[in-house]
Formats: sequence, C-alpha cells, structure tokens
Amino acid sequence: MQPHERLILALDLPQHDAILALAKRTVGHVGMVKVGLEAYVRYGNALLEVLAELGHSIFLDLKLHDIPRTVAAVVKGIDARHIRLLTVHASGGPEMIRAARDAAPDTLDIIAVTMLTSMDDSTAKAAGFLGGIDATVRALGDMAISSGADGLVCASPDLPLLHHIGGKRVVPGIRLGHVDGDDQRRTATPVDAVRAGATWLVLGRPVLQSPDPVATLNSIAKNIADAETSSQ
Ligand code: C5P
Repeated sequence: MQPHERLILALDLPQHDAILALAKRTVGHVGMVKVGLEAYVRYGNALLEVLAELGHSIFLDLKLHDIPRTVAAVVKGIDARHIRLLTVHASGGPEMIRAARDAAPDTLDIIAVTMLTSMDDSTAKAAGFLGGIDATVRALGDMAISSGADGLVCASPDLPLLHHIGGKRVVPGIRLGHVDGDDQRRTATPVDAVRAGATWLVLGRPVLQSPDPVATLNSIAKNIADAETSSQ
C-alpha cells in the first residue's frame, strides 16, 4: 500500500460546500474519506454519491449498535456500491456482528469499534467496562473477529494487545503533536501508529484545522514513507 493510501480523511464539517471543497482538493492524496454521523444525518446518501463521483473510496462510520435484525436491515439499506468500510460497535455482540457481515456484500468490510479513543480506564469503567481498557479491547477484538468482522477500530496504544488477532486495523486519535484540552485520550503520531501495525489512519482535526490540508496530508504521507524506508 502506498503511504497516502493509508490515510483516511474524516469529513467532520457542518457545511456541505466545505465538505465538497475539501473532498475535491484531496482526491488522490488520501486512500479514503470518512463520512460520520455528523455529515450523514445532514446530507445522507446524496453526499456519498457525490464523493464517489469525485473518485473517493468511502468509509461510512455509522458505529451501528442495535439488535441483529435492525443492524442487518440498515446494512441492506446502505448503497454499498460506494462504501468500502462500515463500522459497528463490537459491544453489540457476536450475533449483531454476524448479522452485519451476512447482510453486507463481499466488497464492503465490516469494521468493529473496540473502545473509543476518547475513553480512558476511568471513563471505560464508568460506562460499565469494569475490566478497563486493555482487557475490554482484547475481549471485544477477539470476539468481533471470530464473529466475522473484517477488522477493528482501535487506538494506537491498543494495537500490541491485538497482535494475535487477524483482520485490518483502523486507527483514529492521530495527532501531530500535543493538543491542549483534547477529547481524544489515547493518541499517537502517524508514524508511531503505522509502526504499531495500523492499516489505515483516521485524520480529522489535524488536517481539518490545518491552513493547508493537502500539504499536511502530503507531509504525513512523506513521514510514513521515510519511516518505512529507514526500517527496511
Ligand atoms: O478530529 P479527530 O482526528 O479526533 O477525528 C477522529 C475521527 O475518528 C472522528 O470522526 C471520530 O468520530 C472518529 N472515531 C474516533 N474513535 C473511534 C472511532 C472513530 O475518534 N474509536
């Protein structure tokens, strides 16, 4: 995989015009764009069509979490021609993950979110994951892959916990340096995440808030390429 193909740009912007302008500028500079709930509830499938026409592959980050029948019905209702990755919450359980996988075409990867990168041990325990982050990530990751998920969303520090488990790895919480007051708790730089085993990196605010998003993406891809060369 080329370094830029590892980059997934999160289109977390409120305005349709701004989303499209950024999507146009970044064609060929990223492997995928990510449409999350923020953009999907406003602009729906019409946005997916336009992004696909621009030539983007799409990661639809809906983080589904419901009973198996409902999740299967949602997956069947998605226009999968345009979508390469779709997320479900691993904590929805084995039957829900299996239902999502069975309802999706082979061209669509079902990716299970283990623990949100915004959580730490104390918020995980407060939410009922009494084993804390590490034990929960390991248990959910194992269960999700053996239930048919094609990959996992996890934080970079979690990747070593999951080495024994197959599948692809989508890693959000990517930061280029320290950010004061960040809501993301378990972060890593792009190079560290790739070294730890990330297949794809999700980039939101580090690119969205950059004065030159394309230059930032290109510089991240170059850093990854340099790191890959120096490790050969
Ligand atoms: O702006 P930032 O780089 O933090 O954006 C990260 C993106 O990845 C957001 O769209 C967020 O919804 C998504 N995400 C995440 N943690 C997960 C799964 C997805 O941050 N576990």
